[in-house]
Amino acid sequence: LKRIKIKELMDAPVVGKKVNVKGWVRTFRSNRFIAINDGSTINNMQAVVDFEAMDEQLLKRVTTGACVSVTGELKESLGKGQTVEVIVESLEILGDADPEKYPLQPKKHSLEFLREIAHLRVRTNTFSAIYRVRHAMIFAVHNFFNQKGFYNVHTPIITGSDAEGAGEMFRVTTLDLTNPPKNEDGTINNKEDFFGKETNLTVSGQLEGETAAMGMSEIYTFGPTFRAENSNTSRHLAEFWMIEPEMAFYDINDNMDLAEEFVKYLVKYALENCKDDLEFLNQRALDEEKGKPQNERSSMSLLERLQFVADNEFERVTYTEAIDILKNSKPNKKKKFQYLIEEWGADLQSEHERFLVEKHFEKPVILYNYPKDIKAFYMRQNNDDKTVAAMDVLFPGIGEIIGGSQREERYDVLKARVDELGIPEKDLWWYLDLRKFGSAPHSGFGLGFERLILFVTGMGNIRDVIPFPRTPDNAEF
Ligand code: 4AD
Ligand code: MG
Repeated sequence: LKRIKIKELMDAPVVGKKVNVKGWVRTFRSNRFIAINDGSTINNMQAVVDFEAMDEQLLKRVTTGACVSVTGELKESLGKGQTVEVIVESLEILGDADPEKYPLQPKKHSLEFLREIAHLRVRTNTFSAIYRVRHAMIFAVHNFFNQKGFYNVHTPIITGSDAEGAGEMFRVTTLDLTNPPKNEDGTINNKEDFFGKETNLTVSGQLEGETAAMGMSEIYTFGPTFRAENSNTSRHLAEFWMIEPEMAFYDINDNMDLAEEFVKYLVKYALENCKDDLEFLNQRALDEEKGKPQNERSSMSLLERLQFVADNEFERVTYTEAIDILKNSKPNKKKKFQYLIEEWGADLQSEHERFLVEKHFEKPVILYNYPKDIKAFYMRQNNDDKTVAAMDVLFPGIGEIIGGSQREERYDVLKARVDELGIPEKDLWWYLDLRKFGSAPHSGFGLGFERLILFVTGMGNIRDVIPFPRTPDNAEF
C-alpha cells in the first residue's frame, strides 16, 4: 500500500478507503488516539488504535516525536477537530524517540528554546506553518515575475566587488591566514589566493543583475546574500535571501509602482493559498498579544493587517517631507519615543520609520529622494544636487522591507561619484562599461525575503522565519 500524504487525505477524503499514513507522533491520548503529523499540512491525522488488540510493548513506543507508519480504513470522525480518522489495522514504529530525552513535548515551548534546537523545531506547528508559507512565497515570487515576462538570472555568490560599498563583506579565501603570502610592504599577497584577487560573499546581486537588464530589459534575481554587519537585532541576518528585479527603461516612479504591485501580489497570494497556516499563525499572534499591556497591542490582527496591505494604496512621500513631519511631531510625554529628528541629511532610525508608518500615516509608506550622502554610489542623482532617486518601502512592524533606486546611467556623473568615494576603478570597470556602451535609464529594488516572511507570518524575530538563521555567534547547525 502506497503512503498517502495527510494533506491529500484531508483535501479529498475517501471514506472507507484503506490508507497508509507515515509521520511523527504529536500526542498519544488515552492509549487510543495518536495524532500524527507529516508536515504536509498543519492538521494532524488522528489514528485510532484498539489497545486491547495491540501489542503492549509496541504501543509503549508510540511517544511524542516517534516516527510511525499506520495502515487502516479511513472513517468519518465524530470527535471534534478533524473530519476523518484512520482506524488502525497495523502499526509500525519507524523511529523511536526516547521520551526521557526528546526535547519537544506537547506543550508550548519558548521561541528562544526552539532556536537552540533548530534541527527539530520544524516538527512544531509554528515552524512547519512558517516554512510552508515561506515555500508559498518563493513560488509566488517566481509566478509574479514569470507572468510579467521578467527573466530570472543567477548572479554569482562569490564576487570581487562590493555592491553596496558598505564594506560589510565576508571574505572568501583559500590562503592560510596564519601564514599568508606577503607583498614586499607586508600586506597580504592576494594574487596567490584562489581567484588571484580578494573575493567575498556577495552582499547583493544588483550590479550583475544590471548587466542582465542591459540586454534582456527586465530580469530578477533571487538568491542568498551575506552581510557581516554586527547588528544583533530582530530584523538582521548575516545570511538572508533577496529578490532583486532590475528593469531597463523604468524611472523611479515606475520602480515604485512595481514594488507596490509586487508586495501586494505576494500578500494576496498568501491570503488565498495559505489559509490554514495563516489562521493558525493569526491565532498564535492573538495569543501572544494577550500577554502584552493594552496600549502595546496592535489594533489589527495578523489577517486584518495582511488584508489591509493588500487593499490599500501605499503612501508616497519624499525624504524631505518626512523630515518635516518628524520635526513637527510631538515627542510623547514620557519620552518613551523620541521622534524628533535634528536636521535634514540624517539617516532615519527605525523608530522614525515606525512613527511614519504606524502612527502618522497608518499604512505602508514609500520614502523617496534621499540625501545622496546616506545612500549607495550607484543611485541616480537628482537635479537639486543634494538628493538621489532612492526609494525605501516601509512596513508596519517591520520597517524597511524594500530598498531600491533609479540607477545612475550617465557615465560622467557615475564616474565622478565613484572617484569621489574612492572606489577603485579596477573593481568596477565592467559596471562602468555598461554606461559607455548603449547605456539606458533603468531602475531596480531589493526585497528582503525574510522581512517579507516576518510580515506575512506575524512573527517578531527574523531568526524564526529562516530554518537555520546565521547571526553573530550563531552557526551551530
Ligand atoms: O537596502 P538594501 O541594502 O539594498 C540593496 O542591497 C540593493 N542592492 C537592492 C537593489 O536595489 N537591488 O537591501 C535590500 C533589502 C532591505 O530593504 C531589507 O529588506 C533586506 O534587503 N535586508 C536584510 N534582511 C535581513 N538581514 C539583513 N542584514 C538585511 N539587510 C538588508
Ligand atoms: Mg536599504
